[in-house]
Amino acid sequence: MKPLNGPLLARIAAQVGTPCYVYDAAVIRARIAELKQFDVIRFAQKANSNTHLLRLLKAEGVMVDSVSLGELERALAAGYNVGGEPSPVVFTADILDRATLARVVELKVPVNAGSPDMLKQLGEVSPGHRVWLRINPGFGHGHSRKTNTGGEFSKHGIWFEQLGAAIELVKQYRLDLVGLHMHIGSGVDYSHLNRVCDAMVEQVRQSGHDIRAISTGGGLSIPYRADDETRVDTAHYFAVWDAARKQIEAIVGHKVHLEIEPGRFIVAEAGKLLAEVRAAKTAGSMHYTLVDAGFNDLMRPAMYGAYHEISFVHADGSEIAGEPISTVVAGPLCESGDVFTQKADGILDPHVLPQAQVGDLAVFHDAGAYGASMSSNYNSRPLVPEVMVDGEQFKIIRRRQTLAELLALED
Ligand code: LLP
Repeated sequence: MKPLNGPLLARIAAQVGTPCYVYDAAVIRARIAELKQFDVIRFAQKANSNTHLLRLLKAEGVMVDSVSLGELERALAAGYNVGGEPSPVVFTADILDRATLARVVELKVPVNAGSPDMLKQLGEVSPGHRVWLRINPGFGHGHSRKTNTGGEFSKHGIWFEQLGAAIELVKQYRLDLVGLHMHIGSGVDYSHLNRVCDAMVEQVRQSGHDIRAISTGGGLSIPYRADDETRVDTAHYFAVWDAARKQIEAIVGHKVHLEIEPGRFIVAEAGKLLAEVRAAKTAGSMHYTLVDAGFNDLMRPAMYGAYHEISFVHADGSEIAGEPISTVVAGPLCESGDVFTQKADGILDPHVLPQAQVGDLAVFHDAGAYGASMSSNYNSRPLVPEVMVDGEQFKIIRRRQTLAELLALED
């Protein structure tokens, strides 16, 4: 069972209401400390772009990767500036919509280009702009097909065989090439590590171009299951990339910065989603525990069949006594896929859990990454609050959206 300070969570649930997200600053700081060997830790903001969280990361020396105009504005709102090298903010994408293009040009944000068209569009209006090339090395991996970002069945990156053409565009538009980047997927297993590093060295060799940095991308897995052994050995991960970096330094003849770009690794384990049990019922052989959070609040199980460990405790945080039961934990939304305990393709996956009653608290673990950031207003449900715990203190870092705010867009 994942660590759980039941009484504290109960206090937060009582004060803030459910559903709500709770993050533990100490866990975030501990994860960052594990990556300190890298020259740059660049947080993939998509995992969790709350501005208060970004401020915490900034205070820890972490830089950011933005993937949309909204994320870019969030980084600025959190106090990140865009000058200097390495740039505190890099913009990574496979397209540049017109508004984003104008803003990255205005702010001179380095662009990590995932398509040759991005280089052309940027080069035409902003010669000399700093760019990275995001290379699709021809293979990828992820915890789900939907998070595998390499190979020909992925839309991401500049295909490795087109590196030469991309370098030509860099030269044609006199773009300033900072470095090469590879992100083969999210929730990657480490059997791919050597292959990615080799591919990176090979791409630098083939580019025949000077570079100042390389980025490993993100993708580091975390152990969602208590018995999961995929916890990454960050020292080993660094050592393998450092060896690749040294080969690259030998090619270009000078020092090269090594960046890492994780999202999940930094924030997933710090976050929990709290919900209240609102019904417990049976249907034939099945038992269901229904809570007041749905897939609009935590989409990962419905989207990927992702596993999140769940705890039930009483409303005061105390343990629920008695024989555990096998139950499907589900939400309030009007479709059968609104189930937190499911495998890919919607196959129900009951968990053995204490028998919770109405009023008990449900805790969804490891929800700090791609939880709040992927939530939506489906079924006209307001976005839920986010709370940051730092030591003994906790602070609401996003309040609950009101129904008036939901309706206001349609005034
Ligand atoms: N860099 C790039 C270019 C990315 O596309 C991503 C994730 C990352 C870094 C960070 O990956 P991480 O370290 O967090 O695995 N919604 C999915 C994950 C989608 C990831 C998309 N890109 C999920 O909930 O598992």
